[in-house]
Amino acid sequence: MQTDFLVIGSGIAGLTYALKVAHQFPQKQVLVITKASPDETNTKYAQGGVAVVNDPENDSFEKHIEDTLIAGDGLCNRDVVEIVVKEGPARIQEIIDWGAQFDKDAEGEYKRGKEGGHSEFRILHHKDVTGREMERTLLDAVKKASNITLLNHLFVIDVITQHHLGYLVTKSTPDICCYGVYVLNSQTNRIEKVLAKITLLATGGNGQVYRTTTNPVIATGDGVAMVYRAKGRIENMEFIQFHPTALYEAGRRGQAFLITEAVRGDGGILRNSNGEAFMDRYDPRKDLAPRDIVARAIDNEMKITGTEHVYLDCRHMDMEKFREHFPNIYEKCLSLGIDVAKSMIPVAPAAHYSCGGIKTDEWGRSSINNLYACGECASTGLHGANRLASNSLLEAMVFAHRCYVDAASRIDAIAALPPIPDWNAEGTAEPKEMILITQSLKELQQVMSDYVGIVRNIVRLQRAIRRIDLLFEETEGLYQTTTVSPYLLELRNMITVGYLITKGAAFRKESRGLHYNTDYPFKSELVQNIVL
Ligand code: FAD
Ligand code: SIN
Repeated sequence: MQTDFLVIGSGIAGLTYALKVAHQFPQKQVLVITKASPDETNTKYAQGGVAVVNDPENDSFEKHIEDTLIAGDGLCNRDVVEIVVKEGPARIQEIIDWGAQFDKDAEGEYKRGKEGGHSEFRILHHKDVTGREMERTLLDAVKKASNITLLNHLFVIDVITQHHLGYLVTKSTPDICCYGVYVLNSQTNRIEKVLAKITLLATGGNGQVYRTTTNPVIATGDGVAMVYRAKGRIENMEFIQFHPTALYEAGRRGQAFLITEAVRGDGGILRNSNGEAFMDRYDPRKDLAPRDIVARAIDNEMKITGTEHVYLDCRHMDMEKFREHFPNIYEKCLSLGIDVAKSMIPVAPAAHYSCGGIKTDEWGRSSINNLYACGECASTGLHGANRLASNSLLEAMVFAHRCYVDAASRIDAIAALPPIPDWNAEGTAEPKEMILITQSLKELQQVMSDYVGIVRNIVRLQRAIRRIDLLFEETEGLYQTTTVSPYLLELRNMITVGYLITKGAAFRKESRGLHYNTDYPFKSELVQNIVL
């Protein structure tokens, strides 16, 4: 396959970019590839909404910029913060023009929610299923664009660079260039090459690296792992955001249902197992402090009381309003026998968002030529050491636009692609035991959750590195000798991502934002991004 614009990922970042290049170049072909069904993305699960300044009487760009910088704890790139906040309203208007509905009041004014770290009510939402509405809008628009082809259940394995032409490529090779990707076609079980002048990685987050996460099964950090293997730059992976309030269900692993922070924005109160509202002991902003503070506070309360969860108390809230704003949460709780009007909701922190990722500049360009990255897989400089709630959908739209502007200005000047060899699967055989893969994944998730979670220290990180090294060695052995499957490829990627998170955490000899190390409890004067 060969195309002009290749997009990996069908979430908000990939689809927004695809629509823009397709509209600008009706004669050129845009190919979107996704490893799952088109809407199985982190985007679909977004609840709270999109943070955007759209109330000039009470809000301002300056306030949103300031809130983002405070949450980012000294590591945001101020220029990027200004870009995202100021370009945000135009991007929101575009998706509204494409058909997205955000809730309005009786006067036709947008309803605005509030979440941790925001000084104003500025979060546009579609009840508690904002992401589903945005994903639906984008997929509908993509269906109408005749020059976009969307192929699902194709697993991208690696980006193709000079390395595949037989050249030695290292971190210091200048002008590493991307020519497309190798994909595993799960229908034919064959590995094919897809060549492109320009490739965009929009592969989303990596929450599945941990035992419990709000992310769906697709969130395995594939894009980050591919770029790292291709010798591109990866930044600030240690900043994993744990959402304070995932629904606690005893014994559950993998994806946990989210209880949006907007519930606390509307008045929900966190209580420990003794029924005490504890957040005032940790921060004057109480339940609406930024996520790193709330998640650590909950972690601490759980340790003190010896429990696996705390509670979110909504019993005092206006239930009519609750059901109107949070119908999905209301129903989910009810399905588990929790009537939120009468009972508190058991909640615990879960891995939620990757603030670091593929390092990009302010036009979404990665360190590899003709390879862009956008959305959760990218590290643009917006989030710094901690993402402000509801800033990621906004970032994805703003940077999808910027990637499009830059790619559009360059596409016609890109030289013809060199001949690319087919994938070489010689010397591999069918795997004998799937258990080797599933067991290694469990081990990885255990190691990451126990040693590289909300609270870290030197000993835990050293242990994690040793165990990840072993998992890496064993999995590379499998990869070299067996025919690949999506499970094996994901395991391999998650091990790489686990390694990058842990290495970043070990290099950062301080506590800042989401990274808290009890052996270095203070912020260092050296304010630095960690690039691997
Ligand atoms: P995704 O939407 O995750 O899409 C990734 C795509 O890449 C998928 O199509 C996937 O199949 C594809 N892909 C990945 N690897 C491969 C591969 N190897 N080969 C082929 N395809 C591949 N943010 C907010 O701003 N506001 C919110 O209210 C909010 N709520 C959230 C609630 C939940 C439960 C979660 C999980 C996240 C929430 N977030 C929220 C974060 C936000 O939803 C995500 O950061 C954002 O949607 C990521 O979009 P994306 O396009 O980068 O990636
Ligand atoms: C939430 O709704 O609490 C999640 C918002 C986000 O992750 O930005």
